[in-house]
Amino acid sequence: MTRKILVTSALPYANGPIHLGHLVEYIQTDIWVRFQRLQGNECHYVCADDAHGTPIMLKAREYNTSPEELIERMGREHRQDFAGFHIAFDNYYTTHSEENRQYAELIYERLREAGTIDKQTITQAYDPKMGMFLPDRYIRGNCPRCGAGDQHGDNCEACGASYSPDELRNPVSVISGEAPVERESEHYFFRLQDFEAMLRDWADAEQLQEEMANKLREWFEEGLRPWDISRDEPYFGFEIPNAPGKYFYVWLDAPIGYMASFRNLCEREGIDFDDYWNPDSDAELYHFIGKDIIYFHALFWPAMLHGAGFRKPTGIRAHGFLTVDGQKMSKSRGTFIMASTYLRHLNPEYLRYYFAAKLTSGVEDLDLNLDDFAQRVNSDLVGKLVNIASRCAGFISKRFDGQLGPTLDTPELFRKFTQQGEPIAELYERGEYARVVREIMDLADEANQYIDEQKPWVLAKQDGQDDKVQAICTMGINLFRVLMIYLKPVLPRVAEDAEAFLNVEDQDWDDARSPLLDHTINRFQPLVTRIERETIDAMVEESRQTLAQAEAESPSSHLDNNPIAETIDYADFAKVDLRVARIDRAREVEGADKLLELTLDLGGDVRTVFAGVRTAYDPERLEGRLTVMVANMAPRKMKFGTSEGMVLAAGPGGEDIFLLEPDEGAEPGMRVQ
Ligand code: 2FM
Ligand code: ZN
Repeated sequence: MTRKILVTSALPYANGPIHLGHLVEYIQTDIWVRFQRLQGNECHYVCADDAHGTPIMLKAREYNTSPEELIERMGREHRQDFAGFHIAFDNYYTTHSEENRQYAELIYERLREAGTIDKQTITQAYDPKMGMFLPDRYIRGNCPRCGAGDQHGDNCEACGASYSPDELRNPVSVISGEAPVERESEHYFFRLQDFEAMLRDWADAEQLQEEMANKLREWFEEGLRPWDISRDEPYFGFEIPNAPGKYFYVWLDAPIGYMASFRNLCEREGIDFDDYWNPDSDAELYHFIGKDIIYFHALFWPAMLHGAGFRKPTGIRAHGFLTVDGQKMSKSRGTFIMASTYLRHLNPEYLRYYFAAKLTSGVEDLDLNLDDFAQRVNSDLVGKLVNIASRCAGFISKRFDGQLGPTLDTPELFRKFTQQGEPIAELYERGEYARVVREIMDLADEANQYIDEQKPWVLAKQDGQDDKVQAICTMGINLFRVLMIYLKPVLPRVAEDAEAFLNVEDQDWDDARSPLLDHTINRFQPLVTRIERETIDAMVEESRQTLAQAEAESPSSHLDNNPIAETIDYADFAKVDLRVARIDRAREVEGADKLLELTLDLGGDVRTVFAGVRTAYDPERLEGRLTVMVANMAPRKMKFGTSEGMVLAAGPGGEDIFLLEPDEGAEPGMRVQ
């Protein structure tokens, strides 16, 4: 029976690029979706950019643009990155869409009518300078326990204490640097606690991953609490109907974005939306997510759906985080690798294969070990899989004019390969890709062993062995074909190239069962090439440089989240050689919207510095002025040249950047003390 399945991956935020950490999820989901389609199921895969919220609003301000413009640009980049990794979305949309507004309003209205929305006045930190309430992550200050500076609103990295933002000492707004004040505001709350019994039943009925089931049990024991679903203006999102100045919290309309993206697809392709979303739908609905957002997907989301009269998810598949060489991805080590950087150096299918080879149905973190990555791709794909075809193809094309023989040399072995189809399909279904890959590679070993034993290259030199050589090579090519079909969800392009070589149409799962006989194949071309360690090193180096440059170009990156630096002692301070500098020349830098190239005179010593002040200053306004610079910064190589110091400036960014100027009488070269 054909299953109807709707699949989603979590919606990436529209304020940053896609990196390899994101790709664990999209590759994992894409493999599952491709597998379902290969099985003949009707499987739709939708996603979107998660476009709302404070960080996106602030990022747009920082770049002197509108949130709409920012999300449009990010959307384009995200689409391109995903396409580069062959992620086969049926629709990639945005949460800032009319469909999403409609469903967000509809769900909210239904929840309100059902009496599951309460209003309550709460007190929150408010930034008087920016005129906005501050989410916790935008407040930093001294730890109430140990006094360490620049700590988050909820926990101290220095001593591990946890506390609430109002306990922070000397709190400051990360955005303006001002001390926040307390202010009251009316918020809307969704009564999650009303759904406990339903959620417990739902969790029992679905086959949730064990880790998720445990988490849910813990949360039920702690007791479910009302969920704050509103935010005050200014906010980039949807205004709540009949509540001027109040907006839906980004996490309310984000999952609704799954529906909205699907709705948009339905309109385009004539699919029946209700068939998938009505409460007694026989379609299946799966959400692939990271383990950090289980709460939203396994509690709020099913409760919202249920409360608003829609169906609930069939399953939620959570995965762990990506580490690189055993550690968190790091910008300075160059292991924070963006999708676009990867694609400039390496074939996307290598990564698809490597992730598949390590993914299980659990939520453990996944390590991308760069040496192991190269070794694995080289030995499995080049050394084992493609080798089967390359060892047999030459004989078939040269001696038999590309013609496969009428029979298989060893039908039992072929049968063994086809019989593995079912258990492998079962493993795909459960998300046990590492075991899928292991099974397939075991078969690849057997195929190679078979060729080793049969030695067609020896027989080919003997008279009267033509039929045998053809039968052995026909066998080898057929074994290769079966494995390629099994790997098609993981390696869609390699599989396509293999189909071209085998001269067959788009294969599906069941095609593996019948061998290709009396059939002409095409000339063999290498399907996968080896990864060299130098290529990986070049990618890591480019990652390091791109991120250093992005930091340098962002006017506020050094101010971001960093209003109060760590405490330093005098010796540290004394290391910084601050000097008065005269700006002799200021020039725009082609290709860098944020930078000016400054020629600075330190009293005879002339330096070139790239400074992120272009959004605030016209170059002419700067020439002849004095400023303060760090004179003993190590030179930094950037795309546009080498920067030999840093000038000091203050302000939140955009037009509000202020170069520091010494008082009258200061001369270029003077030491600042
Ligand atoms: O955590 C995140 O990156 C969110 N943008 C995921 C949203 S998933 C869904 F609920 F929309
Ligand atoms: Zn502390």
